[in-house]
Amino acid sequence: MAKKHNKEQETSAVSLISMVDQSSPITEQYRTIRTNIQFSSSADKRIKTIVITSSGPGEGKSTTSANLAVVFANSGQRTLLVDADMRKPTVHKSFGLTNNRGLSTILSTETQVGDVVNATHVPNLFVVTSGIKPPNPSELLGSVRFDVVMDELSRLYDIIIFDMPPVVTVTDAQIVSSKADGTILVVREDVTRKDAVMKAKELLELTKAHVLGVVYNGSKDASDKGYYYYYGN
Ligand SMILES: Nc1ncnc2c1ncn2[C@@H]1O[C@H](COP(=O)(O)OP(=O)(O)OP(=O)(O)O)[C@@H](O)[C@H]1O
Ligand SMILES: [Mg+2]
Repeated sequence: MAKKHNKEQETSAVSLISMVDQSSPITEQYRTIRTNIQFSSSADKRIKTIVITSSGPGEGKSTTSANLAVVFANSGQRTLLVDADMRKPTVHKSFGLTNNRGLSTILSTETQVGDVVNATHVPNLFVVTSGIKPPNPSELLGSVRFDVVMDELSRLYDIIIFDMPPVVTVTDAQIVSSKADGTILVVREDVTRKDAVMKAKELLELTKAHVLGVVYNGSKDASDKGYYYYYGN
């Protein structure tokens, strides 16, 4: 019984506070993160593709990715959220979508990008779910096909956010970070270990990822809905 409960929690939908309450201080924090990302962009290097990762599991990567995607879309930019966590996908659950086709489908078949993009009820927000769990996520993300897909998406959207697995346990986030314009590391209060953050940073630097900053997911108590985020270089 307890085991089943844990398993369900592992892949549950995340709270889309930015969608349900635009005036919440938490939504305002996501807007601040958005502004900081926009300020990291320069005329010669626009930040268009962003990886969200963290050192370990359950630190708020998917929550941060989904809410950031909503506030980017709210600012009028054509925004795409890609569930690039093909190991523990949650984006389809958060947005109430089916997951028969998605990223793994375009990377492993002839399916075109346009066939797997879902509109959402947030204007300007589009979603690519993870697709059926493939046996080889890292190989798919490291493939030439992934580069081609990323190029194509970059032409179609203003901002693309990749929700990724943790960087310390599997190589997926390192691979995509090396191709993306920027990477954000999520740190969760009382969960993230300091040595793990150092390790994550080291692994991202190894692949020449452009780490834009850290999102501090700082609520101890889920019951007060107090997710507070800070951002800095
Ligand atoms: N600050 C917070 N306070 C309370 N609950 C939170 C907070 N941040 C995230 N959560 C909850 O913790 C769980 C894990 O969050 P989330 O799915 O965003 O993490 P993740 O890093 O994507 O996890 P995974 O490594 O499994 O992909 C979710 O149920 C989410 O709603
Ligand atoms: Mg996740």
